[in-house]
Amino acid sequence: MSRSVYVTRMIPQPGIDMLRAHVDVEVNESDEPLSSDELRRRAGSHDALVTLLTDKIDSAVLRSGAGSLKIVANVAVGYDNIDVPAATASGIMVSNTPGVLTETTADFAWAMLMSVTRRIPEAQSFLRAGKYQGWGIMMMLGEDIHGKTLGIAGFGRIGQAVAQRATGFGMKILYYDPVVQAEDAARRLNASSVDLNTLLRESDFVSVHTPLTPETRHMIGKEQLDLMKDTAYLINTSRGPVIDEAALAGALKSNRIRGAALDVFENEPEVHPELLHLDNAVITPHIASASVATRSRMATVAAENVIAALNGQRPPNLVNEELANG
Ligand code: GLV
Repeated sequence: MSRSVYVTRMIPQPGIDMLRAHVDVEVNESDEPLSSDELRRRAGSHDALVTLLTDKIDSAVLRSGAGSLKIVANVAVGYDNIDVPAATASGIMVSNTPGVLTETTADFAWAMLMSVTRRIPEAQSFLRAGKYQGWGIMMMLGEDIHGKTLGIAGFGRIGQAVAQRATGFGMKILYYDPVVQAEDAARRLNASSVDLNTLLRESDFVSVHTPLTPETRHMIGKEQLDLMKDTAYLINTSRGPVIDEAALAGALKSNRIRGAALDVFENEPEVHPELLHLDNAVITPHIASASVATRSRMATVAAENVIAALNGQRPPNLVNEELANG
């Protein structure tokens, strides 16, 4: 059995070490995303690719791997960067890293929610700019979080972990998810299922946790933003294109909603220019799962998937289940 793996960018060392104990490993040490030509070349000359969300694994890359490449193991829970139907058509397995980043991402969604609501980055910039000339009772007023209504769009693992944390703040929890069956979690968390428009209308905070699919692209645009309370906040730690970023920038600029906290953007690493300057937008560079422990675990989960696939076993996080018995 051939056993050669290409890792498209640097990943945490535990993942590399685990792979090296089983297979030959080549790593793109430059840590720059590869060109599509280079990805095609690597797909055609290795048995497995370990990829990151910055790699566009399209049908051309997958066709180059047809016949030799066994698995594309994405080091992320999201896999919208991979054309999964094209992978399936070429008999190539795709895996992701669900579960291990749930709690870390939920922690971060909460950090974002609290930062924007209590104006922490804005207050810090104010202080660092030497503008703090004395305490003021009207200074930097934000909104309360406890006792408010949290609306969760996408009630999978991460959405539920965000809801779990909200119980400590005595919040009312609404959720919208037309895909995931979450009745047990909803009962445990005292969360109510509503349609998207109700969620937008009634929530003080809307936190987005859907995968990016054709159905969720621009799920929140101008029309949806217009349903939100003018005191509401929008938090996105899922994928940028779920929200129409230009429409959101407009809503923040006109104070149509009170604020937003965004870890993801429509065309990363670009950010809509308005968002770079608005005080009511807290923005971070796609780091919701970025703890030392979690990023290491994501790398070893990807390695476990590769090793299973190259040993002729079912990868534990196989995305295209159709290939399980292939
Ligand atoms: C990060 O965005 C991931 O999908 O894991």
